Amino acid sequence: MNEVIQNILTRRSIRTYQEKQISDEDLNAILEAAKFAPSGMGRQNWHFTAVQNKEIMDKLILAIKEALQKSEIEQFKKMGSNPAFNPFYGAPSIILTAYEKNSQTGVSDCAAALQNMFLAAHSLNIGSCWIHVLAFTGNDPKVRSILTELGIPEDYELSGTAALGFNSKEAPKAAPRKEGTVTIIK
Ligand SMILES: Cc1cc2nc3c(=O)[nH]c(=O)nc-3n(C[C@H](O)[C@H](O)[C@H](O)COP(=O)(O)O)c2cc1C
Repeated sequence: MNEVIQNILTRRSIRTYQEKQISDEDLNAILEAAKFAPSGMGRQNWHFTAVQNKEIMDKLILAIKEALQKSEIEQFKKMGSNPAFNPFYGAPSIILTAYEKNSQTGVSDCAAALQNMFLAAHSLNIGSCWIHVLAFTGNDPKVRSILTELGIPEDYELSGTAALGFNSKEAPKAAPRKEGTVTIIK
């Protein structure tokens, strides 16, 4: 099996991280991988925001948790009020993805960019996880005001966030693959 496919098959979502920061070189390589993802009609109507500042991250986490507490969904409320809950699992780096609101392919464009980032990170021995919470709390006024401070345009919607850092535990094993999800017609 070639290295690229091996990298795809061995990537796992990582939810426990060391405090140690990833290098600027690796961060830039991961962002470059994001920028080279496919996008609808090649429009690249996305924006990637890397945050490595703990104070800013903590402020964002607090606002996200407050937004979750306002949710009508009981599970989200519980997450928001749980002092131990950190949506980014303590990852030292996060990369927020956002897309132009009117883009017809923005959600998919960001998903392609996120997967490129996860695979690039894995190839560099950096753990990663897709964090979805900003996709549904990104328009909460307090969360949005922080996103605006971070330079995310008001007319951009938030998609997934990539949590990035060095694993502090062995990566989990992959779940068995579901049967019957593929049809080949010749
Ligand atoms: C659209 C999407 C949203 C996700 N959101 C979260 C999330 O908010 N938090 C989290 O811990 N994992 C999240 N994940 C990661 C999945 O839980 C994970 O990919 C899945 O359990 C399979 O595990 P694997 O990535 O190790 O193969 C998300 C994945 C996708 C594709």
